[in-house]
Amino acid sequence: MLCALLTLFPGAVRPYLDESILGIAQRQGLLQVECVDFREFTHDRHRTVDDRPFGGGPGMVLKPEPIFEAVEVTEQRLGVFHKVLLCPRGRRFDQAKARELSECERLLLLCGRYEGFDERIRTGMEWDEISLGDFVLAGGELAALSVLEASVRLIPGVLGCAESAISESFETELFDYPHYTRPRVFRGMEVPEILISGDHGAVARWRRAEAERLTALHREPPVPPAPHTDSDDQPDPSGT
Ligand SMILES: C[S@@+](CC[C@H](N)C(=O)[O-])C[C@H]1O[C@@H](n2cnc3c(N)ncnc32)[C@H](O)[C@@H]1O
Repeated sequence: MLCALLTLFPGAVRPYLDESILGIAQRQGLLQVECVDFREFTHDRHRTVDDRPFGGGPGMVLKPEPIFEAVEVTEQRLGVFHKVLLCPRGRRFDQAKARELSECERLLLLCGRYEGFDERIRTGMEWDEISLGDFVLAGGELAALSVLEASVRLIPGVLGCAESAISESFETELFDYPHYTRPRVFRGMEVPEILISGDHGAVARWRRAEAERLTALHREPPVPPAPHTDSDDQPDPSGT
């Protein structure tokens, strides 16, 4: 995968990109990341990337010109990308989306800052708008790194053991089962006997049962449909 990460803070993301899974994937040649500082695409003396909002209000808005130019120059140089815009109002990121993005040959991630983007950045290019969740970060960098890491670890060959990605939470309808390693007893807490039994069938059944138990414990049960009442049959007085 070739990833272009458009950010005003390449120095903040680079160290993370070079560690652990993302670093390994790059060293294996399975991932290449180009950090593009869109401030480099300004043409004024102050290298201005933001400006006050039309209509007034708080905060500063990211200007369209440097971002359009950064995307266009990057695509001229490296080819067409699947373009992701990180923003709170995007579709909530999940494992299915990570799997979909892991198949992209070229993935561009655009990180906002301040009050966010001039709306023409959204409307003037085709974006896959992704949110990390219902909260507001100061910038898109942590969201971009999360999206990239979740996707890259699903690229075949990146994880040491491909099986670990298959049994994980969200890959099935169940959360992952509990894991234990040495020592067998730690501060009086023992590893479940069955995991040391050598009985692979029993271990598999125990893990399945534990995954079901934890899923039931940590996920809300589905909301049952509201019971039908007589008032549902009355005509709507507003006529709508
Ligand atoms: C302070 S936020 C802007 C928030 C915006 N004014 C709003 O209320 O939706 C600045 C940037 O951080 C990023 N960001 C913030 N929260 C995010 C989230 N939940 N998911 C993805 N990106 C987020 C986006 O790139 C956004 O443009």
